[in-house]
Amino acid sequence: MGSSFGIAIVGCGTVGNATAALLLSESDNFYRKTGIKLTLKALVDINFDRAREAELNDSLFNENLASVLEDGTVHLIVETVGGLTIARTIIEKALKSGKHVVTANKALLAHYGAELFALARKNSVSIGFEASCAGGIPIIRALVDGLLSNSNEALYGIVNGTSNFILTEMVEKGKTYAEALKLAQAEGLAEADPTLDVNGMDAAHKLTLLGSLAFGVSIPLDDIPVEGIDGLDLFDVSMGNDLGYVLKLVALARKTEKGLEMAVKPMFLPDDHPLARVSGPFNAISVYGNAVGHTMYYGRGAGGSPTASAVVSDVLSIALGTWSTLFSTLTIWPDRCEKARLADSGESIHRYYLRFMIRDVSGVVAKITAVLAEKGISLNAFVQKESHEGKLVPIVITTHEAREKDISEAFNTIVGLPSVDNKAVRIRIIDEHPESL
Ligand code: HSE
Repeated sequence: MGSSFGIAIVGCGTVGNATAALLLSESDNFYRKTGIKLTLKALVDINFDRAREAELNDSLFNENLASVLEDGTVHLIVETVGGLTIARTIIEKALKSGKHVVTANKALLAHYGAELFALARKNSVSIGFEASCAGGIPIIRALVDGLLSNSNEALYGIVNGTSNFILTEMVEKGKTYAEALKLAQAEGLAEADPTLDVNGMDAAHKLTLLGSLAFGVSIPLDDIPVEGIDGLDLFDVSMGNDLGYVLKLVALARKTEKGLEMAVKPMFLPDDHPLARVSGPFNAISVYGNAVGHTMYYGRGAGGSPTASAVVSDVLSIALGTWSTLFSTLTIWPDRCEKARLADSGESIHRYYLRFMIRDVSGVVAKITAVLAEKGISLNAFVQKESHEGKLVPIVITTHEAREKDISEAFNTIVGLPSVDNKAVRIRIIDEHPESL
């Protein structure tokens, strides 16, 4: 008992400052629980305005990363700069200096994780990244430790707090997309550039990491079909609600006979789906294991304090040696496992919500249903609102299960029909995954 573990945080933004505050305020508590004295040695950045706003002590501020990396009393670097360039250099330098690294940078790990993990091993240190996926939820620990006894069958997640917050604000409070996004930024949920939050890429970064650990295979980011919430129309969100569905940005990875099916897309969930009530900044991940069945992990997926919770849990686990043992011994890490065999997404089977804008002329609906029938697509619901003189009128169809490829071909044929506008919407409906127990 009584060892000391020195930490420097590089990047004084929302997460860096919250991590510093947590390390400073809970240090005695951590010592009581672990016998290790975590000591915050430095906050590294080139601008400390936000650190001052967070009332962090000036004596910790240091603009010189090199001096911190040379300091033998610093054992671990927390990287909270974000992005793919400076952060990568910082992490590489830290690893080469023999420092452990803890990062919340999912984009960097999704692109360069294998290289960085290999570099860490070469230098006999570890990388902790619990904070990179789903904020404060200990999902990575669950996958690499708690669920190690399982062969996982599927993972479904709501893993972007910003998108989920925006969708909730739009549906429950009638806010516009722009108002809701602004609010998400003010709450410290969004990335510095919120494009990645709303175009689905942030969720795809997380799915690459989570899928990789859940299935023990490496998943190239470019192989994941991705759509964001940025093109959504409130009409479809509300119409879906009327039909008993909730729209969520879902990250999905599941085993099929033809390989691993992966996707990040807005999807409709039936009201009683386990993920349907995950609202606001909250995230949740459902994992289906062959032995345990369905387990679900829920919590705040973004924001300073929840993310700092995950960062500091990594720091503690590395200081204790627990994480370092998993990092050095398991074979499920992206630098150690084989590339995933991915299923052809065109072959995936789902139910669908389709919305077309049509001119109210005789025979157009018959033509649409004929195209669907030709592809063997069976209709479940059909809703047409009354038309107003000269205006396009929406028709909404939900289908029974159909092949993605058939839906896609039928959809393209329909939007090419006379009297059908080319602005149309196609959204998957995802039912609860069956347990195999
Ligand atoms: N911008 C991310 C989100 C933060 O909204 O989920 C956590 O990764």
